[in-house]
Amino acid sequence: MADAKLLAVAGKGGVGKTSVSAAMVRLLARSYPDRRILAIDADPAVGLSTALGIDAGTTLDDIRAAVTGEVTERAGGGVSDILESVRGRLLDAMQHREGYDFFAIGRPETAGCYCAVNTYLRQVISLLIRDYDYVVIDSEAGIEQVNRRVLEKVTHLLLVTDASRRGTQVIQTVKRVADELVMYERCGAIVNRVTESSAMDYVDTGDIPILAVIGEDPAQTEFDILGKSVFDLPADAEILRGTEQALQKLGIL
Ligand SMILES: Nc1ncnc2c1ncn2[C@@H]1O[C@H](COP(=O)(O)OP(=O)(O)OP(=O)(O)O)[C@@H](O)[C@H]1O
Ligand SMILES: [Mg+2]
Repeated sequence: MADAKLLAVAGKGGVGKTSVSAAMVRLLARSYPDRRILAIDADPAVGLSTALGIDAGTTLDDIRAAVTGEVTERAGGGVSDILESVRGRLLDAMQHREGYDFFAIGRPETAGCYCAVNTYLRQVISLLIRDYDYVVIDSEAGIEQVNRRVLEKVTHLLLVTDASRRGTQVIQTVKRVADELVMYERCGAIVNRVTESSAMDYVDTGDIPILAVIGEDPAQTEFDILGKSVFDLPADAEILRGTEQALQKLGIL
């Protein structure tokens, strides 16, 4: 799909990346029931599945381990066999939910990996992503994934921060690194868990436009404690409102 939207969510640890990603998946799935939507949990600590109320299931890293074993066993196995094996396993690992599909990356590739397998994984993922209209990627905290080009090409970079100086510094660093290493079309910030509106006087996101400011959301707190799915949040929940506003500003909703 040529005009597919790839939305990557990044920022400092614990600022609400996963909550915002989950909210995006719900908003997209509900607004576009006829479009193909994919949610990718790119955080090794796998949190997005919990927020969506599903099992993480087989991760890409599990597939990598299995295929690496195969490749080592039958040294010289045909390239097309390996590609087919990766593709098949990836399709099996994909979880199909109402309105969206999901898979988790698990541990991102490490130096010790059989690098050919990673090449196949990347090829298959880029092929697979083409079948979707919207892809939401919940990244690991910090700049590592941007740095290592886990996110090589996205259309939208959503940078989540809290009101802290550290949070806004991290998103500005992510943007600087992304400007060098990642192809993206648009970038914007969501300032989350803002308890005092006066705090916004001090929030400086540099050249990153603020798309939405989200307050402390009691429904989100309750759902987090109970481990309930974003799909059961009341429609007027603050986190949904703010995320919707951000997606509207980007012209996605
Ligand atoms: N607006 C909000 N109101 C209340 N609680 C929130 C809000 N946003 C996020 N939280 C809570 O803050 C905690 C961290 O949020 P979340 O897991 O989404 O952050 P994260 O950036 O993905 O963290 P990590 O870096 O660990 O992956 C969670 O307990 C979540 O429920
Ligand atoms: Mg997270």
